[in-house]
Amino acid sequence: MPAAVLGGLGTYLPPRRVSNEELADRFDTSDEWIRTRTGIRQRRWADTGQSTGDLATEAGHRALKSAGLDLGADVDLVVLATTTPDHPCPATAPDVAARLGLSRAAAYDISAVCSGFVYALEVASNALLAGRAQTALVIGAETYSTILNPQDRTTSVIFGDGAGAAVLRRGEADEPGAFAGFDLGSDGNDKDLICIPDGGSRQRATHQEPGDDGRYFTMQGKKVFASAVRRMSESSAALLDRVGWPVDSVDHLVGHQANVRILRAVAEQIGIEAARAVIDIDRVGNTSAASIPLALAEASSAGTVAPGDRVLLTAFGGGLTWGSAALTWPDITAC
Ligand code: COA
Repeated sequence: MPAAVLGGLGTYLPPRRVSNEELADRFDTSDEWIRTRTGIRQRRWADTGQSTGDLATEAGHRALKSAGLDLGADVDLVVLATTTPDHPCPATAPDVAARLGLSRAAAYDISAVCSGFVYALEVASNALLAGRAQTALVIGAETYSTILNPQDRTTSVIFGDGAGAAVLRRGEADEPGAFAGFDLGSDGNDKDLICIPDGGSRQRATHQEPGDDGRYFTMQGKKVFASAVRRMSESSAALLDRVGWPVDSVDHLVGHQANVRILRAVAEQIGIEAARAVIDIDRVGNTSAASIPLALAEASSAGTVAPGDRVLLTAFGGGLTWGSAALTWPDITAC
């Protein structure tokens, strides 16, 4: 039976490390508060002039390398998940595809905030299963540092910049790396819990200039926390049921790195021991659409995941949106 198969993984983190101590000099916060409430010790922020497309191109290049492909390879589809595109128009993916020499690829962005990478994986997987593509490049890339409100200590300590990319190819369901299934969902009734109020047609239709604060990312943390735990747990359980994987057969839970307390609560609700949850939020913060591929690469490089292991991905983000994916781990080296 045909399936989408993970064939390569690449990541890029901007060099600038931002420690909790640095943020404590700037905001009314402390290393202790950030560590105990979120699990974050440091994050990376892009340098001046470094855009989401720049990060995405670097991660995409490394993913191609990990899959044994060169620049200009025969890739049919590039899907870029991001909350922070280079421009409101056009999408960032075509530029990234061009910079990677993927001249014959269809390329577009997906906007599902922190769930974006799982959404993009599902879309690419469907194209492969339908025979519309043989090889796809799926990227999650963000520069949240460009949308954080410098007056908001809560969001400013949580989010980081980075990019991760995966090469998917059309293969067989019984080979390591095959995706067994996906579960996606949304609830737009809670769209205001995570939002950049201005800059879109809702604000422009009022013929008023964007407000200073309205340009920035806003989040109602407590409500988001509760929703994230509930939706990721429910989505994971629904997917495991659909693909017929008993919960104790899951070797690794790779959840969206939103908050270490959220990750522990999701593991507990699903019934997966905390030690099987991959955690890298301490080093990179919440990197939104880049969070899942960065955590996957971290687990791969650390030797935590082995070929054939069962891996459950689950994410939650603005929209609200959520999504889960199940795959067996392939024999690849992340670059
Ligand atoms: N430093 C110090 N204190 C801070 C702070 C900071 N950086 N940010 C908020 N606080 C304060 C608040 O002002 C509040 O003070 P008060 O009690 O005097 O009013 C107190 O800490 C508790 O705030 P609260 O929002 O209740 O904290 P919390 O335990 O819910 O933690 C988050 C806040 C943001 C860390 C947590 O809600 C969270 O992680 N939410 C989900 C975030 C997320 O995952 N976002 C991405 C979604 S995909």
